[in-house]
Order: sequence, then C-alpha cells, then structure tokens
Amino acid sequence: MSLLNKIRCAFTLGQGLLIENKALQSTDDPIAFFKFWLTEAEKSGIILPESMSISTCTSEGRPSSRIVLLKEVDDQGFVFFTNYNSRKAHELEENPFAALLFHWNMLQRQVRIEGRIERISEQASADYFHSRGRGSQIGAWASHQSDLLEDREILVERVKHFENKFKGKTIPLPDFWGGYRVIPERIEFWQGKADRLHDRFIYQPNNKSWDITRLNP
Ligand SMILES: Cc1cc2nc3c(=O)[nH]c(=O)nc-3n(C[C@H](O)[C@H](O)[C@H](O)COP(=O)(O)O)c2cc1C
Repeated sequence: MSLLNKIRCAFTLGQGLLIENKALQSTDDPIAFFKFWLTEAEKSGIILPESMSISTCTSEGRPSSRIVLLKEVDDQGFVFFTNYNSRKAHELEENPFAALLFHWNMLQRQVRIEGRIERISEQASADYFHSRGRGSQIGAWASHQSDLLEDREILVERVKHFENKFKGKTIPLPDFWGGYRVIPERIEFWQGKADRLHDRFIYQPNNKSWDITRLNP
C-alpha cells in the first residue's frame, strides 16, 4: 500500500479504506486535508473548532502561547486577526515564526503547523474588520491589547468614547489592528489510535508539492 493510501486509511479512524470518498482524495494536499478535518470538527459539535493555540518567541527564544481564532485557510496559509501592538505581535515582529496547534479531543486529532509569519494586506484586514459586528469593531479600537489596564472602568470609558466618535459613521480599520498569515513549513496530522499507537504524518513543502513522512507516535 502506498504511503498516501495508508494515510487515507489511518485518517478514517479504522473505518477501513475510504479511497472512494472524494474528500479523502486530497490527502496529498495538506491544506485540503486540513479543511476536511476542520469540517469534521465543526460537524462533531466541538465548540469553537477553529480556535487554535499560537506560540511565538522573543528574539531570546522565550516562548509564549495563547488561543486565537483561525479565520481563513488556503494555499497561502493560516490567517488570524489581532492587535499589532499586542505582546504576540511584538514577538512576531522580533521573530517572525510561529507554531499553531489545533486539538479536537472528541475526534482524537491534533494538527501542528509551523512556519514563517507575515501581515496580510491592509485591504484584506479592512474587509474582515468591516465584516465584524459594530461592537467588536469598537472593541478593537478601545482595547490596548496586552497593555496594563489599571481599572476596567478606563476600558468602558474608551468604548463610550469610540461609540460617540464613530456614531452614524463607518468605523475605520485601526492602523494597529489586522491579520497575520502563517505560511506553513511543516504540518503534522496526528490521529489517536488504540494502545497509544497513534498515527503521525508530516507534510513539508517541496517546490510545488509536499513531501510526506510518517513518525513514531
Ligand atoms: C476562544 C478564544 C479566542 C480568542 N481569539 C482571539 C483572536 O482571534 N485574536 C486575538 O487577538 N485574541 C484572541 N483571544 C485572546 C488571546 O488568547 C489573548 O488573550 C490575546 O490575544 C492577548 O495575547 P498576547 O498578550 O499574548 O498578545 C482569544 C481567546 C480565546 C480563549
């Protein structure tokens, strides 16, 4: 059996070979496969299956992690939105590499993504910003994310300030807010199996295709 066929088999959690299943035809493309797993996670009823941990590092190599929401994924990479003055953003400006982690416990699945990071275009950030509710847009203006907040009242006052300022107007994209894209250099799909004999498959880009290898659990 080819490695690709073994992956198709492994990824169906012991349901046997489902090569006829069109969704599984895409196991040679980790982005398509990721989307397939994400759809399954959505269908499983897991709350916020698009939430992911993102780890960043200072230039001294000190790591930190937090949860953000995946908003787009395509051949270019994995996109999330945040404050460009936040702690994570400072670390990403110093050290433009990140690790993403999804864990879908009900499905016994984990996906690890590592790669270089870049800001998405201002236009793409603005498009997403304006698709959000007005409250979230005001929240982005009001929060000095990761800065010390002496009193919650200060935040509430800032919200009122921006509500007044933008009353009856389109809220502009803050220049300190937008998206980052993680361009994958390595993607690992992990499927839990009995007796801790889990399946792990690594995808690494090689020209326009992907090298696939298997690791011990
Ligand atoms: C479920 C969940 C989703 C979140 N989504 C985002 C997000 O998409 N963007 C974001 O900036 N922070 C998000 N947060 C908050 C972050 O975890 C974090 O507190 C914030 O980004 C500040 O992190 P930093 O100080 O390390 O930069 C989310 C938190 C949770 C629990």
